[in-house]
Amino acid sequence: MAKKNQTLGEFIIENQASFKYTSGELSRLINSIRLAAKVVNHEVNKAGLVDIIGAAGETNIQGEDQQKLDVYANDKFIQTLTNRNIVCGIASEEEDDFIIVNSQDENHQNKYVVLIDPLDGSSNIDVNVSVGTIFSVYRRVTPVGTPVKLEDFLQKGSEQVAAGYVVYGTSTMLVYTTGDGVNGFTLNPAIGTFYLSHPNMEFPEDGKIYSVNEGNYIHFPIGVKKYIKYCQEEEGDRPYTSRYIGSLVSDFHRNMIKGGIYMYPKSSKNSNGKLRLLYECNPMAFIAEQAKGKASDGYNRILDVEPTELHQRIPFFCGSKNMVIKAEEFMSKHTE
Ligand code: AHG
Ligand code: MN
Ligand code: MN
Repeated sequence: MAKKNQTLGEFIIENQASFKYTSGELSRLINSIRLAAKVVNHEVNKAGLVDIIGAAGETNIQGEDQQKLDVYANDKFIQTLTNRNIVCGIASEEEDDFIIVNSQDENHQNKYVVLIDPLDGSSNIDVNVSVGTIFSVYRRVTPVGTPVKLEDFLQKGSEQVAAGYVVYGTSTMLVYTTGDGVNGFTLNPAIGTFYLSHPNMEFPEDGKIYSVNEGNYIHFPIGVKKYIKYCQEEEGDRPYTSRYIGSLVSDFHRNMIKGGIYMYPKSSKNSNGKLRLLYECNPMAFIAEQAKGKASDGYNRILDVEPTELHQRIPFFCGSKNMVIKAEEFMSKHTE
């Protein structure tokens, strides 16, 4: 039972027994993500000091090379998960191929693989706008004790055992699910502790916000164009409000709290849209469904898509249930 003001550490221990597989491994994994998130949060908060401590590619006053923040975040999450021997494999948006953890160790019995988008919305860093981290966890399908294979990562989103995100915003939050609802924890930076601030998060069934990069309007499929016009029409509770941060995590987080739809459709420039199925859409779709929302590629449930490659892209429509259903109606009705 989620109790407000509980720390994330306490919450993990208390809820360990309700996980499908109760070896404690998944708890340790979430704990590592919590730790890496705090380290990355510290660095993200310093980003505004770039004129003082040096920009990416420069050498700082201590003689250290300044890294781009997405590379830094990638390194920190990978280091934390590998050093603590918690997972058997990692795939990251920032890496060409997946990483095999500890394949030499015969006693290595870890069962989980993690997929991450270490820094989502990274173009917002320079302008002091929220960014995030997205993670997704699966149970491996190949035998324990052997090196992980591609098939361990190319599982349908419906097989996820946990997923979550960190939003480095006006306050930093970690929001995650292990398939039993969605809970959000806010970081108290003074003492470095996450507290349960948003228990049992749910998307309102209907919403009044649509989030899409309308600069791409002329390139969108006709169904999306018509749906955008529908959102703008003066009728009933419409027109809706348009809000687009350009950082999936932040747009999703706002829409989950206030009610809304996020769309990254295909376009005449990108036939599969821009977002990555494994690092972005599947984890967000799992969280959305656990929060009573919906996620679709415009026609079908995201979590049912059989992945074919690690860095695969897919159109994404996600948010309040009735809004996604309406967008799907427009997509099926207006085909090119
Ligand atoms: P990333 O920074 O991990 O590459 O992801 C950026 C993604 C997503 O967060 C965001 O919603 C979308 O790209 C914005 O794309 P546009 O600038 O094309 O709207
Ligand atoms: Mn991203
Ligand atoms: Mn990224």
